[in-house]
Amino acid sequence: MLSRLKRFWYILPILIGLVLIGAFAIWGNAPSGEPITINGITVPPLSTLDPKVVAQGEPLYAQHCASCHGANLEGVPNWKIIQPDGKLLPPPHDSSGHTWHHPDELLLSVIAEEGDPSISDMPGFRDILTDEEMIAVLTFIKSSWGQEEREFQWWITARDQ
Ligand code: HEC
Repeated sequence: MLSRLKRFWYILPILIGLVLIGAFAIWGNAPSGEPITINGITVPPLSTLDPKVVAQGEPLYAQHCASCHGANLEGVPNWKIIQPDGKLLPPPHDSSGHTWHHPDELLLSVIAEEGDPSISDMPGFRDILTDEEMIAVLTFIKSSWGQEEREFQWWITARDQ
């Protein structure tokens, strides 16, 4: 009897550990929070960004995008002012820009396809980055957004599907 009790106390911390690991695994992957309703349209809760995909996107951003959109996603100063030749300047990709106003599908097509040369010097990345890499860059960009921007962009992406 005594030895069985002792064994129980030995095993207890291991059991607690396993339960905690299990709980973290479930909570870690579960969408955090509530379904999101904007303008009467409800979409599932915001998913968490996969840190591995964010880490994959960061150096790709530095290599291919930072020269125009800024090392810290800040864009160029006065990016809202259209140039005398009609060109748009690279906007920020952080919360201060309007990247988060657009659904994934549109953003991925802007990244893949060359811009209209009369208004944009942005190259298309279709032949330079794989689909997976473009998604990783976009995921890295999303990781810079605040909660509100992320929720809005999640909502507008889910709404359009
Ligand atoms: C040669 C400069 C240049 C490079 C390099 C560049 N961009 Fe752009 N980008 C622009 C300009 C200018 C605009 C604004 C005009 C437009 O929308 O085409 C823009 C617009 C965008 C937009 C639309 C943003 C919005 O708010 O509507 C996205 C998304 C974007 N860029 C992503 C990227 C990503 C991701 C990369 C790297 C893989 C990249 N850009 C590389 C110049 C560049």
